[in-house]
Amino acid sequence: MRIAFFDTHRFDRTAFEEANAGFGHALTWFEPRLTPQTVGLAAGFPGVCSFVNDRLDAACLQALAQGGTRLVALRSAGFNHVDLVEAERLGLTVVRVPEYSPQAVAEHTAALVLALNRKVHRAYARVREWNFSLDGLVGFDLYGKTVALVGLGRIGRATARIFHGFGCKLLAVDPRLSGSDARAQGLEPVTLEDALARADVLSLHVPLTPGTRHLIDAAALARMKPGAMLINTGRGALIDSHALLEALKSGHLGAAGLDVYEEEEGIFFQDLSGQVLQDDVLARLLTFPNVLITAHQAFLTREALHAIARTTLESVTRFERGEPLGATEVRAEQVLPR
Ligand code: NAI
Repeated sequence: MRIAFFDTHRFDRTAFEEANAGFGHALTWFEPRLTPQTVGLAAGFPGVCSFVNDRLDAACLQALAQGGTRLVALRSAGFNHVDLVEAERLGLTVVRVPEYSPQAVAEHTAALVLALNRKVHRAYARVREWNFSLDGLVGFDLYGKTVALVGLGRIGRATARIFHGFGCKLLAVDPRLSGSDARAQGLEPVTLEDALARADVLSLHVPLTPGTRHLIDAAALARMKPGAMLINTGRGALIDSHALLEALKSGHLGAAGLDVYEEEEGIFFQDLSGQVLQDDVLARLLTFPNVLITAHQAFLTREALHAIARTTLESVTRFERGEPLGATEVRAEQVLPR
């Protein structure tokens, strides 16, 4: 199938071109993000492959359908950026990569926790300036601390295994997790309220849906234990970033590790180093010594990239042959309130 790739970068081109040797699809690379303004580039392509910060709203999907696109392949697990109801109305099939490497995201979560706790980002900068002082770099033992995971799907479970290794006590917030399943994994099932009050580290692993938008708002932040660490490798809008800023300014929140940011679209994945950063909240967040931000890179391992490429191209082949798409297909009912 002829597939137009949007928001492409060297790292995904390499992985897709290698994987495509076994599939033989015709891949065309476009650097711009897929938005209603750039959708014209997709005209005549039956397949479109998009990334997390493309904007697949109703206008964009309508233009895709008019241009002859029948399949939208998301090279991501998250699908919050797609108007699935409109896609379904237009008869567009949407597939994603439900699982590629939960370990990649879980390990990045651990990297953020460790770096923030032991202030590796500050130590690195200091030592390069020949400042070998240790003042201000005191961390805490993770051993025996309470880590709350919100969302115990593939990534949450992989994260739990890592923090068990550190000897942490694990709290789990997930309405779909049964008490017995939780206990079998060494997790204590709790409510979000309980997790907020008890966690030394609270980490988010839920999808972004209308029900989870601003799950961590001002009230939730206020309920967190003073000095606790908040980690988000899920989706930016799970946290109200203005409220986060206030919780950091007041000193109530101890640290924040973010791989995703509410307004990351148009910023993350770009080299803006020669420009003036226009997002004041992000700019302010970057001034805190106890905030560590990475630009949506938790998925970025060789293993994950190859799995993403393989699964995506396999779905395209299945679609072409009219074969069942199984768990890769995303349907509107997955985001509609039940
Ligand atoms: P999953 O679908 O396996 O698990 C999600 C879990 O969240 C489910 O068990 C569900 O019951 C639970 N959940 C839903 N709403 C909840 C709520 N309000 N409170 C508590 N639990 C709730 O998804 P997976 O693979 O673990 O991924 C989670 C999210 O991580 C994705 O939706 C995606 O947005 C994000 N992600 C981020 C990446 C990155 O590079 N930063 C890469 C891959 C995924």
